[in-house]
Amino acid sequence: MNDTKQDRVLIFDTTLRDGEQSPGATMTHAEKLEIASLLDEMGVDIIEAGFPIASEGDFAAVSEIAKNSANAVICGLARAQLPDIDRCWEAIKHARQPRIHTFIGTSPLHRAIPNLDKDQMAERIHDTVTHARNLCDNVQWSPMDATRTELDYLYRVVEIAIKAGATTINIPDTVGYTAPRESADLIRKLLENVPGADEIVFATHCHNDLGMATANSLAAVEAGARQIECTINGLGERAGNTALEEVVMALKVRNDIMPFETGVDTTKIMNISRRVAAVSGFAVQFNKAIVGKNAFAHESGIHQDGMLKNAETFEIMRPEDIGLTETNIVMGKHSGRAALRSKLENLGFELGDNQLKDVFVRFKELADRKKEIYEDDLIALMRTSTDPENERVKLTSMTVVCGTEGPQKADMGLEVDGTQQKTTQTGDGPVDAAFNCIKALVPHNARLQLYQVHAVTEGTDAQATVSVRLEEEGRIVTGQSADTDTVVASVRAYIHALNRLLVRREKGGTDKREVSYKDAG
Ligand code: KIV
Ligand code: ZN
Repeated sequence: MNDTKQDRVLIFDTTLRDGEQSPGATMTHAEKLEIASLLDEMGVDIIEAGFPIASEGDFAAVSEIAKNSANAVICGLARAQLPDIDRCWEAIKHARQPRIHTFIGTSPLHRAIPNLDKDQMAERIHDTVTHARNLCDNVQWSPMDATRTELDYLYRVVEIAIKAGATTINIPDTVGYTAPRESADLIRKLLENVPGADEIVFATHCHNDLGMATANSLAAVEAGARQIECTINGLGERAGNTALEEVVMALKVRNDIMPFETGVDTTKIMNISRRVAAVSGFAVQFNKAIVGKNAFAHESGIHQDGMLKNAETFEIMRPEDIGLTETNIVMGKHSGRAALRSKLENLGFELGDNQLKDVFVRFKELADRKKEIYEDDLIALMRTSTDPENERVKLTSMTVVCGTEGPQKADMGLEVDGTQQKTTQTGDGPVDAAFNCIKALVPHNARLQLYQVHAVTEGTDAQATVSVRLEEEGRIVTGQSADTDTVVASVRAYIHALNRLLVRREKGGTDKREVSYKDAG
């Protein structure tokens, strides 16, 4: 089974491909590079960086990730077409360890799309895997919708792919239909019945439509799969993909019954989870396993009593195992610049002098309004830094009148390309009134795709973090801001997104993908 030890499970992260392709989760180029670097640092074995043929943006991101990654194998996705595979290779060839992942839908429903009969599809698989293998010695092949493919046909095509040179065979449960016993049986049967199966690595790729993705992935591993495909926070289309943090922590905590190891440094989980939530705009549900806000909160009296006597009473893993440190009050109004730098360094942020200057000003503004500054406040401050060079629109003043009688009214001053402008608008609530002011002063047709508000810490003086996603003619941008005033945070987040949109408009191009992996064939 390749050079993979029996007890080692490879973690294949597809946050930047299957996760990012889910509608609305689009990330910018810089965000993709940042997430790839966090994945690389945390010890993920393979990073599926994107789908190079899908758009110029995907190609550029995959190429740059390939050039920069220090440890992980960098993988690109390609449909079963020679130009796709060539384009994928172009993007990944500079990686220290490149991998081509090519796929085609093999179930009856999927075979009907390219209108290929079983023999024609088998020939296509042979030709495309052979082509990929001639370019790259690390090739993964996936029969999309494997769990709904006739078993005898699955055996046949997996054997063809192995003979043509695939080194990993991935078995996707594309529509999240399978169940744990079935998932295990399928891997076991493939290992038993396909010639050459013991020479390659079997991977499991599960979707969470029935909430069984983690269980299905672990069952596949117990049956012999040695690669789990997953995403941070379970990001992905519909109900998402298998969550990386869930399978990795399950293998760690229940190593007694699942004696498999991964190369993931679990103390990096919390940081990357927060970052993926912020850049994708997909917040993590409070009671989400491992990374939800409540996952380690022990609120009820009985629990607290037990926890104080012995943490193991109710805790099966320690918060520090996933990098969750206690949210102590860390700083206040009188804290200096050196203390801020040192605290931020402890939280993993290395700052240059200019950046520190900017963050310190914003920290002081926050400390004037909020007596106690927690680590989460500092993280929010860092995550919402603006990019002054790209700020064509700046908020200069705002007053909002609220009350039980609507409509609410907002007065706003903006500096737009260096010119002061003012307006008064009404709306259905204070945020709507304020957003109407922005639209009046900077006319645009962008559609508000997402508006999301979260309290960073407890208490009525807590900061609100706001994410806004705008879409205009296929360009998708997100903006974030944090403030103790929810309306101010909302307006700043909107303006942040709008500034990004103005830059994108100038550059031209869109985020629209010319092809999707659903067009396989
Ligand atoms: O879910 C799926 O089938 C996929 C394939 C492209 C591997 O994501
Ligand atoms: Zn998928």
